[in-house]
Amino acid sequence: MNDFSQRILAWYAENGRDLPWRCTTDPYAVWLSEIILQQTRIAQGTAYWQRFMERFPTVRSLADASEDEVLRLWEGLGYYSRARNLHAAARQIIALGAFPDTLEGIRSLKGVGDYTAAAIGSICFGIPAAVVDGNVYRVLARYFGIATPVGTSEAKKEFTLLAQRLLPEKEASAFNQGMMDFGALQCTPKNPDCLSCPLQSSCKAFQTGRTVLLPVKKPSVKPQERHLDYIYVRFDGETAIRRRGAGDIWQGLYEPLVSCHSERSEASPVLLKAAVRHQLTHRTLLADFYLWEPSRRPALPEGYTWIKETELDLYGKPRLFEMLLEAVNL
Ligand code: ADE
Ligand code: SF4
Repeated sequence: MNDFSQRILAWYAENGRDLPWRCTTDPYAVWLSEIILQQTRIAQGTAYWQRFMERFPTVRSLADASEDEVLRLWEGLGYYSRARNLHAAARQIIALGAFPDTLEGIRSLKGVGDYTAAAIGSICFGIPAAVVDGNVYRVLARYFGIATPVGTSEAKKEFTLLAQRLLPEKEASAFNQGMMDFGALQCTPKNPDCLSCPLQSSCKAFQTGRTVLLPVKKPSVKPQERHLDYIYVRFDGETAIRRRGAGDIWQGLYEPLVSCHSERSEASPVLLKAAVRHQLTHRTLLADFYLWEPSRRPALPEGYTWIKETELDLYGKPRLFEMLLEAVNL
């Protein structure tokens, strides 16, 4: 085995994190953890994984649930298409009769890409497929001194090939998870712990003083800012919400009245909070929060219904709606 991989495995045996889904090779439990961790930090992800495993201990229980319930349990994690895909994939697995045990089979599940397929395949079935995530890019770019900008298709090819070449056939699970943990704990984005690092003597970035310069990032476009008004309407103990439709970042979640108070005459909405910032992947939302308590029941725009304020908990909401409720003191 090459020196690099040997040291990663030794480091992992000593320093690997004690994560709850590492006590199992149940593909359902591992798949769930990988989907949750796609855009979520370990600490927050662990709490959600535990909630999901309690409420849905098996693929079947997840497949039998309604999409609304899955979205509600997912609330707060963001990137809600992950939850919808998770639910759809559970139904795919039930239709297949068992969790797929080949790379292609796993890759065919909704919401599973190259990274997730390699992670599940190696951890649960010992398939020798290398994972390539942000940690892997960083560790390899530094150790081998590779300056190809990450986020390009060229980098994806180059780093995937290299990781695959380094992967020890019989230790795929430990190597992959070792790379992730090594990147998360030792070779961190800021201030990597080079002084105690077992790879230091052969690390290109360390030897040439380039740890802060690697990996090279592709220049990113500045996220667009979008303004909107979020209006909590209250009449007779009820409020108005609408379910977001298909092809939407918040598809399946509920929202309050949005940006439609300009033409109101009586009892204008009261501004509760201005310019509340909410960061999405490609866009920054700047929301003004209003409370509107009209004296007569107003007609609602298309798609909205009245619900009891006490039943708001039953609806999956994006974080921004939760923040509006906090501003209203609910
Ligand atoms: N991040 C995503 N999946 C992980 C895993 N299996 N181990 C460590 N970090 C991860
Ligand atoms: Fe990363 Fe520093 Fe170790 Fe190189 S020496 S692998 S930069 S932690």
